[in-house]
Amino acid sequence: VAQRLDGKRIAGDIQADVAAKVAALKARGIQPKLAVVLVGDNPASASYVRGKRRVAEQVGIESDLIHLPETVEEETLLAEIERLNNDASVDGILVQLPLPSHIREADVIERVDPQKDVDGFHPWNTGRQVAGLDTVWPCTPAGVMEMLRRERIPVAGRHAVVVGRSQIVGKPMAMLLLNEHATVTVCHSRTQGLADITRTADILVVAAGRPRLIGADHVKPGAIVIDVGINRVDGKIVGDVAFDEVEPVAGAITPVPGGVGPLTIAMLMANTVSLCERRRGLRGEAQ
Ligand code: GUN
Repeated sequence: VAQRLDGKRIAGDIQADVAAKVAALKARGIQPKLAVVLVGDNPASASYVRGKRRVAEQVGIESDLIHLPETVEEETLLAEIERLNNDASVDGILVQLPLPSHIREADVIERVDPQKDVDGFHPWNTGRQVAGLDTVWPCTPAGVMEMLRRERIPVAGRHAVVVGRSQIVGKPMAMLLLNEHATVTVCHSRTQGLADITRTADILVVAAGRPRLIGADHVKPGAIVIDVGINRVDGKIVGDVAFDEVEPVAGAITPVPGGVGPLTIAMLMANTVSLCERRRGLRGEAQ
């Protein structure tokens, strides 16, 4: 039976490290601050934002909530982001996605100052990621890498298969694994013969948003299975992996909930501190 990768415990370890960095910054008179922009009242988004602000408070990061109505004009939202760009006390800006359909998400992402882009979504940062330059990475794939590192799961030379090609998870996940010298295959909704490919994975990362997409016949015995899915089924949160089937086959597996989710929030805090240090010319010093 697979080892369970305890995202909650690892997130707690990361948060303790971040809290120590925040304390060191505060000792120098610097208060890291995250601005969170929430548009509308989507219950899932509101719940994620509450979770992020709660953890920020726990690690000593100040967080401001900018809550705008569902009907807000795109121009008003862009002006609000511009105000945060120009506010010297703000280190990181997070616009909770998805946005209402009358707003062009790409315009909003591009308006955030790349130096305050705590999600690592701005094309300027995407470019730096691809170019192998120092930057922040999207929190969810960064959290997966941090978990692999802390659990001492080797990546170099192994076959990593990523299922899903989203801008938020799949694409940056593939790039991060490649940077750590994995051989990387990306599968998606049009992939033919999915199980034949996933069965060759030493490390399988699933971020497709489809409950029970991955069953026992998709997994090589002993493989590391990372489930990024968050799906609501019959009022319960489940991942993209049929946990009951795959747990007896895999070498290690993340549960849902309690796997990747807490790591995403922990990495958001790490990114906020990282941007704070960089913008104030302290990168590395305050650690
Ligand atoms: N919505 C779902 N995941 C994310 C994320 O990582 N960042 C933001 N801003 N919105 C999201």
